[in-house]
Amino acid sequence: MSNFNVCVIGTGSISDMHFKSYQNNQHTTLYGVYDFEADRAMEKANKYSIKKIYKDLDEVFGDENIDAVSICTWNNTHAELTIKALEADKHVLVEKPLSLTVEEAVRVEEVANRTNKVVQVGFVRRFGTNTQVLKTFIDEGKLGQIYYAKASCLRRLGNPGGWFADKERSGGGPLIDLGVHIIDICWYLMGRPKVKSILGNTYKQLGNRSNINNLSFYKAADYDKDKNTVEDLANALITFENGASLMVDVSFTLHAKEDEMGVKLFGTKGGAELEPNLAIVTEEYDTIINLQPQIDYLSFDFDNAFQGEINSFVESCLFDKKSAAPIEDGVELMKILCGIYESAEKECEVLFSLDDKIKNIK
Ligand SMILES: NC(=O)c1ccc[n+]([C@@H]2O[C@H](COP(=O)([O-])OP(=O)(O)OC[C@H]3O[C@@H](n4cnc5c(N)ncnc54)[C@H](O)[C@@H]3O)[C@@H](O)[C@H]2O)c1
Repeated sequence: MSNFNVCVIGTGSISDMHFKSYQNNQHTTLYGVYDFEADRAMEKANKYSIKKIYKDLDEVFGDENIDAVSICTWNNTHAELTIKALEADKHVLVEKPLSLTVEEAVRVEEVANRTNKVVQVGFVRRFGTNTQVLKTFIDEGKLGQIYYAKASCLRRLGNPGGWFADKERSGGGPLIDLGVHIIDICWYLMGRPKVKSILGNTYKQLGNRSNINNLSFYKAADYDKDKNTVEDLANALITFENGASLMVDVSFTLHAKEDEMGVKLFGTKGGAELEPNLAIVTEEYDTIINLQPQIDYLSFDFDNAFQGEINSFVESCLFDKKSAAPIEDGVELMKILCGIYESAEKECEVLFSLDDKIKNIK
């Protein structure tokens, strides 16, 4: 069986991971591509032997042969394109973040519920080998109740520029680009508790540091050293209704000695480090034990994780299985991300009331 037809919309850097993973999925046919930069769409169509190159979005959504779309465009288009795809009866894998605002995210959720199609959000770290191994331990109760987590993704020099550095199109800087992944992975492993309050800070102290010489970093295709409207550092303390808390910091630029990636969880019976390398900490016979799982990938394995993400999405669509990164999780993440930005802007704690409306108190 290989008649699940997919179209990839937005054919920039991350689209290669979607193309490759769909190609490796036994059920899927890479049916079409679309990008408003026609050359980019053509290049990927040639690279992956895809016959159909659409000339506009109406043509994509009007094609009844397409079963699902991957949306790999700028962040500010995710919600709108997801809604259009759902209304056209397509399943959707949308790259993170789901939207730029909570209101948009809720609107997508309403349409997803009404149309009864799958919407999966690109929380690819959920499919990493290290995450899946740790999740098994957590589900079996080895960590007990997780009451604290700490996540850092600090780049000393890593503002990609281009649309990533344009708040209108990206929605923000390292928080919405990198923070979305590490907040999601902690929240997911903590058991997806409801957010209760957020205290956040954002800083624009260093800019994009385009003055730095002799140290290379990834630059978007449309990099312009003079254009940057996003924060360079964000941090936050997120507290959940079950009393657990998550401390996070993320940067595009920072006077740090080196880049840093860390994800740690602490529970009543044990703890764990997911990044930079999976390790589990426990206690037996009054002795602290550090466990080192013997697996191929102790750190995030991007290719395998992407394949897992795509396989899981296709299975959800074909076999009516609950998505492993469902729309409601995308909405909850938007509440957290927007809550951090709001707290930073208003310089106060943001509280979430029971009906999930954001309100502020001093
Ligand atoms: N899951 C991950 O780990 C991961 C990694 C990188 C990027 N991403 C996400 O993937 C998305 C794309 O990032 P990228 O690095 O590939 O960016 P990119 O700039 O390399 O590619 C984006 C492409 O989308 C096209 N595009 C933008 N709006 C469009 C629209 N309305 N219709 C058609 N085409 C449109 C652009 O022309 C461009 O070719 C972003 O949302 C980003 O957050 C996810």
